[in-house]
Amino acid sequence: PAFDVVVVGSANVDVSARVLHLPSPGETVLATSLVRSPGGKGANQAVAAARAGGALVAFIGAVGADAEGEWLSARLAADGVDTAMLARSGDPTGQALISVAANGENVIVVAPGANATLALTPAQKEMVARARVVVTQLEIPVEAVASASAARACGAEFLLNAAPARPLPVELLADVDALIVNEHEAREISGLPDLDAAASYLVAHVPVAIITRGAAGVTLAMTPRAASLADGGVAMPGPAREEACESTVPPYLVDDVVDTTGAGDTFCGVLAAARAQGLSWEDAVREASVAAALAVTAAGAQDAIPSRQRVLHALQTER
Ligand code: RIB
Ligand code: NA
Repeated sequence: PAFDVVVVGSANVDVSARVLHLPSPGETVLATSLVRSPGGKGANQAVAAARAGGALVAFIGAVGADAEGEWLSARLAADGVDTAMLARSGDPTGQALISVAANGENVIVVAPGANATLALTPAQKEMVARARVVVTQLEIPVEAVASASAARACGAEFLLNAAPARPLPVELLADVDALIVNEHEAREISGLPDLDAAASYLVAHVPVAIITRGAAGVTLAMTPRAASLADGGVAMPGPAREEACESTVPPYLVDDVVDTTGAGDTFCGVLAAARAQGLSWEDAVREASVAAALAVTAAGAQDAIPSRQRVLHALQTER
């Protein structure tokens, strides 16, 4: 079958230590708990898209031919994510070493393992070419991201979550429909410390730039062409150098921040599912923000991704 959302990305076993405060360089701290849970930005996004409901979701990635790989695959399948194109590599399954502080902040070190071996096969390329929406991140080789972007020529909408931040070949941006970044990544990619300037830079390279800013909400910047299409209008073939439209989608506020791990992934996965179902960028961002906010109220990455019912309930009872 053709899928509504195909996520091309990483899958990791997350080993999360709960600590009172994050250690400084050279410091040793004692953890209060240690938990293993399914993670990886790509797999998290696939699960988020599946839990958003209504979208047929597939995951393309690489895990090891080991028990961890089996476990991650089974966890994806349990959420209804298709894993027929999940490759088994000779390298071990990726692992993320995570420390989570009492205030919910984290630091993460990823050992990519099998994720670094991902290179799309003809069958995997065909799967992305037939998708409605394709989502990638930067925990896999940039060549794999570039081959996924070829789906755009076949009519798929191509979303790039440029996380974790790393230098990007600018040619890659030419194939992106929407770029999703946090503040840190926006500054890193643009090389501009000022966030407004960074947003303008990004939207000069991609039709839609989305900057997630935590409790400050989400900046949504679109070219006039993307904005008029979003309004159901007809694209005017005018000069590309007009003012971009910029708006801020307000945050959904939660009181109890437990663990921010995977919140950005929840945002991207839910956004992709919403776009596949024809929602406008604004409405898709709204839903994604609520889901991401709910995700920080529970521990873990995939373990904390909310169900569709919880997101709908939150949208209806919004303060
Ligand atoms: O974005 C959170 C994810 O980053 C974790 O699940 C970890 O595996 C790393 O990939
Ligand atoms: Na979480």
